[in-house]
Amino acid sequence: MSTKTSASGIEAAKRITTQTLQEMKVAQTPVAMLTAYDYTSARILDSAGIDVLLVGDSASNVVAGHETTLPITLDQMIYHASSVVRGVSRALVVVDLPFGSYQGNSKEALASAIRIMKESGAHAVKLEGGEAVIPTVERIITAGIPVMGHLGLTPQSIYRFGTYKVRAREEEEAETLRRDAVLLEQAGCFAVVLEKIPLELASQVTSSVNIPTIGIGAGPSCDGQVLVTHDLLGLTTDFNPRFVRRYGHLADEIQRAVESYIQDVRDRSFPSIDESY
Ligand code: KIV
Repeated sequence: MSTKTSASGIEAAKRITTQTLQEMKVAQTPVAMLTAYDYTSARILDSAGIDVLLVGDSASNVVAGHETTLPITLDQMIYHASSVVRGVSRALVVVDLPFGSYQGNSKEALASAIRIMKESGAHAVKLEGGEAVIPTVERIITAGIPVMGHLGLTPQSIYRFGTYKVRAREEEEAETLRRDAVLLEQAGCFAVVLEKIPLELASQVTSSVNIPTIGIGAGPSCDGQVLVTHDLLGLTTDFNPRFVRRYGHLADEIQRAVESYIQDVRDRSFPSIDESY
């Protein structure tokens, strides 16, 4: 991690920008991205050195308990995003434009993106889709707001897909995806998420565009990887797709800790005299 020294002599981590991600692609340094929805987690992930924090609309699933990402509102995304921004000193914070906040027309989309940037202090927005969202991407970028694209399994379209299975296995859909990635780059996106597509297709897209591709279930050739933090930490236990690697089992650990606490309360061993006034 590169650092700079402030007037006080304390070394501060250098902020990640969209330009940094571009440089990482050129240097072939993989980008590490995770989701975050709250201040405390964002602080921990940021101090661990994560490059990008995505305030994902997956908050709708893992925070609010909805089945899909569709119910989360713009106000709720702004609340999550502003909490994350307060916890971050280095990572680039990207916020999902939620379902219904950008599909109507590019003017509405720009208004939603401006609200996110103004009210949360985030650094960029992400939206799902290819050719159909190009005028929207262009309009948001013209206002000076960096945009990340998202292709492949785009969860806001789950009712159109009807399934969470791997996308673009067939050549027709793969060809559309290849074209969409180029269109997003030409429209000015600084990066594109590729979700749940065959690794060979992700590899082709990665070498055909000059912006970083960030994969989730898209194989090792992408320029970076993203996971939902709750999955990586083992906070979610009932979601086990092949692409998730669990680096912790926090659900078990939390359960053990809470069971111990309940036991201590019941047998009056908590609080002790030392823990009292
Ligand atoms: O909302 C989200 O968490 C996402 C990632 C899966 C890329 O969009």
